[in-house]
Amino acid sequence: MLYRILRHVLFKLDPEHAHELIFQQLHFIGGTFLEALIHQSFPACPVTCMGLQFKNPVGLAAGLDKNAECIDVFSAMGFGFVEVGTVTPRAQAGNEKPRIFRLVEAEGIINRMGFNNFGVNYLIENIKKSRFKGVLGINIGKNKDTVVEQGKEDYLICMEKVYAHASYIVVNISSPNTPGLRALQYGEALEDLLASIKAKQKKLEQYHLKYVPVAVKIAPDLSEQELIQIADSLVRYNIDGVIATNTTLDRSLVSGLKYSTEPGGLSGRPLQSRSTAVIKILAQELKGALPIIGVGGIDSLTAAREKIVAGATLVQIYSGFIYKGPNLIKDIVTHL
Ligand SMILES: Cc1cc2nc3c(=O)[nH]c(=O)nc-3n(C[C@H](O)[C@H](O)[C@H](O)COP(=O)(O)O)c2cc1C
Repeated sequence: MLYRILRHVLFKLDPEHAHELIFQQLHFIGGTFLEALIHQSFPACPVTCMGLQFKNPVGLAAGLDKNAECIDVFSAMGFGFVEVGTVTPRAQAGNEKPRIFRLVEAEGIINRMGFNNFGVNYLIENIKKSRFKGVLGINIGKNKDTVVEQGKEDYLICMEKVYAHASYIVVNISSPNTPGLRALQYGEALEDLLASIKAKQKKLEQYHLKYVPVAVKIAPDLSEQELIQIADSLVRYNIDGVIATNTTLDRSLVSGLKYSTEPGGLSGRPLQSRSTAVIKILAQELKGALPIIGVGGIDSLTAAREKIVAGATLVQIYSGFIYKGPNLIKDIVTHL
């Protein structure tokens, strides 16, 4: 109820402005007695995945807390895990504004943020300042001005820096807003990236004396054949998990709606069935070899259940959280 009122006010503002305003407030109340205002408590629903213990299977998807500024607050809301980033080696401004659009009738969002973030060093400083003791995923990417052929180096730089601070690392090769990034999902480029990441993980494991699982985040805009090939590569390179999916370029479910022709990635309810279909195909191919983290259009308990029935071990939310608020976490966790 409270969130519905807040949403009514926030949705009158430009989406990015609303985001900044809320982040300022959340940052301010984090660690103070005011944190009680957003605190939600409900029985734990523990899940083991990638060798990690999650207090419940509902996580915050990447992109909302790009710089790890509000981890404690999201934890207080009841998320079973928090994924921060996408972070790049160097700070970058991202694309020109406006770059987020609400498709309210469809409960969707189109964004073309372009990995705006303050860089990996800033993210690490924020993590060091937080009190968070739960599962923290760090989602990594490449800078826009790094040519795709050198993109691998950006992932390796980020891996090296975040390894000590992450419960798991996500290699994001599926954002539609960094030119050429999605090319890393195919053929030799993918194999080469996975081989380098695995080699880096091994070295870092020996150095830090801890194993940090690495997951790969993929796009929904892949054919069945392409998904089968990706699944095969993930298994062969012993990747620890796959996150399905990022936002879609497909507009067929929103055609005619205001903002539907804005360039960028579409998320929220119009993505729901496609991302579930991707999870189903992956589950058939992977046969449990590695876990699937399901994300895309989860806006209810039913939608979360569909992802789990399709083969996901954990789920993440972003757009559903914007439209439904923190109650969505509680609804899913308490009834799953
Ligand atoms: C404004 C916005 C920014 C996003 N930024 C990122 C990002 O930086 N890295 C990433 O891996 N995914 C990013 N995503 C994708 C989400 O993590 C998620 O995969 C996608 O939105 C589908 O989930 P949803 O339908 O619950 O929103 C972003 C999504 C939105 C709406």
